[in-house]
Amino acid sequence: MSSVAKFKPAADFVSKAHIKSLDEYQKLYDESIKNPDAFWTKKAEDLHWFKKWDKVVDFDFRKGEVKWFIGGKTNVSYNCLDRHVLAGHGAKTALIWEGNDPTESKTYTYAELLTEVKKCANVLKAHGIKKGDRVCLYMQMIPELAISMLACTRIGAIHSIVFGAFSSESLRDRINDSSCKMLITQDSGVRGVKQDIPMKINADAAVAECPSIEKILTVKRTGHKVDMQSGRDIYWHDEIAKVNDDCPAEEMDAEDPLYILYTSGSTGKPKGVLHTTGGYIVYASLTHKYVFDYHEGDVYWCTADIGWVTGHSYIVYGPMANRAITMMYEGVPNYPDYGRFWQIVEKHKVNIIYTAPTAIRALMKEGTSWPEKHDLSSLQLLGTVGEPIKEADWNWYNEIIGKKRCPIVDTWWQTETGGILITPLPGATATKPGSATLPFFGVQPVILDEQGNELEGEAQGLLAIKAPWPAMLRTVYGDHDRFMQTYFSRFPGYYFTGDGARRDEDGYYWITGRVDDMLNVSGHLIGTAEVEGAIGRTEGVAEAAVVDFPHEIKGQGIYAYVTMMTGVEADDATIKAINESVTKHIGPHAKPDKIQFTPALPKTRSGKIMRRILRKIAEGAVDQLGDTSTLADPTVVESLVSQRK
Ligand code: WTA
Repeated sequence: MSSVAKFKPAADFVSKAHIKSLDEYQKLYDESIKNPDAFWTKKAEDLHWFKKWDKVVDFDFRKGEVKWFIGGKTNVSYNCLDRHVLAGHGAKTALIWEGNDPTESKTYTYAELLTEVKKCANVLKAHGIKKGDRVCLYMQMIPELAISMLACTRIGAIHSIVFGAFSSESLRDRINDSSCKMLITQDSGVRGVKQDIPMKINADAAVAECPSIEKILTVKRTGHKVDMQSGRDIYWHDEIAKVNDDCPAEEMDAEDPLYILYTSGSTGKPKGVLHTTGGYIVYASLTHKYVFDYHEGDVYWCTADIGWVTGHSYIVYGPMANRAITMMYEGVPNYPDYGRFWQIVEKHKVNIIYTAPTAIRALMKEGTSWPEKHDLSSLQLLGTVGEPIKEADWNWYNEIIGKKRCPIVDTWWQTETGGILITPLPGATATKPGSATLPFFGVQPVILDEQGNELEGEAQGLLAIKAPWPAMLRTVYGDHDRFMQTYFSRFPGYYFTGDGARRDEDGYYWITGRVDDMLNVSGHLIGTAEVEGAIGRTEGVAEAAVVDFPHEIKGQGIYAYVTMMTGVEADDATIKAINESVTKHIGPHAKPDKIQFTPALPKTRSGKIMRRILRKIAEGAVDQLGDTSTLADPTVVESLVSQRK
């Protein structure tokens, strides 16, 4: 593997970087592992604590117990806002909001944002929300989403954000799983060519079956008329006008819950990943500072949606705890045209951009004329997250966007990890396209074989983490058994990531993808079981099996094999119905790219579907099906191959 090109950070980048050499990284890393208490004490002291912790960390992975900054009292909203305003930085820009329409944008200073957050917190309180209550946020990328998050954390309410493209059924299930008391949404949404995404309509449909919801608070984004149920539904602007902006931040225990975020599971329903307060904010801010080499005044843009963890940690909490200028964009990369990202970079003089390989591929496909139309000279650093990035895409990002001047940080992490775990530090780590490189401070990755033996040196296997880091999840909300089962039972004493990885001769990590039944579509994890379940609910469908296949833009596409009930013929209407069912039960992002009807699925004699074979057929590797003799009916394979889509 020594043939892989290495890209060293340029001298002028290094000269101003927080961490300037691999030696410096190594020294700090060693310190963080040998003496985590001293390392994290120093880092946590950069934040504000009402009361300092008594003990830095306590854990037992075998019991699924993890605690950080035990006994410490703090507040995330206070750290993200009050602290900066009180230190005299209230007039500095906190948030730049760029609307879907290129003529629409808005900025908030730290002082302005604090005022809005306090008012919103008072609205929540006025409607009975108390510390520990769950509040669901189902919104598009509007400033009120960030304001609502910070308002929840201010009073100790636990937010649960549901990505705005999820269907009303998905929303309903997530609200019910954590019995949210309030839902915050918007009348309707604008995104790309869509000018009226029915947010309140979906919210109403969901809440009809959510007994715990007492109030729906609705932001007017489009002004389109929506039904308002008296006694239950209230408008944001009406309520904000009734309250004052006096609202002290609640003293929260370091281990009090901060938020729940649902992520797909390889079996059954989504898991409510629970993050807590102290460790999360320490880790989110520290990673943001070092990974993006953030310096005062830099304009930082993470293009993710706040509905996913990347937006939680790296649009809102990490950057704001660091008093950064953070940007949030309502639209999509190709509206009004494929130059939009680069137009935004030019308009706001963005210094740091953090995006996903799927977006890079979609833009790359349209050629270099779009980025060439815009001045990208403000860019200093590029980031990527969500899936492995291919060398060609990395090179395009480096050459066409970064003009070979900007280091690229390929950051590996998960909803569960709360923050980036494996990543280059841009002034220190020479990068190799496609590798997330080295662990962040305090992170101890290991590569295990199937039996759970730790592999040394160059190796390939399963990626696990040996010791806790401050931002790791603490449980699956309401289901601690599932938490144990999913992350700690297969390899006792380790956190198991569900990813495969390789370590090369430099100790660099290369993520090889999921090793469980999860699809990574455009950087979004979707469980095969969820999609199969939704397809299975279509009238006339007997059974479905779903696998991934390589997709030019999405990274992985969804390939569905479907068998119909005896005597039922599949036709175009069936395809339409399948797509509708997936959209209804999950959301449009989970619709299959290809559907192949088959009289039978390849099953072992014990009835287990052999996905390996389905995957090979889906990717067109029909000459690599391997041993099919264990199938109950080997002739199934022939018909599957001949009918391949
Ligand atoms: C994948 C997103 C390769 C991985 C923050 C992980 C990546 C899953 C990378 C988590 C990367 C994320 N290189 N693969 N840089 N980043 N992944 O929970 O499979 O939405 O387990 O969190 O995405 O996805 P999630």
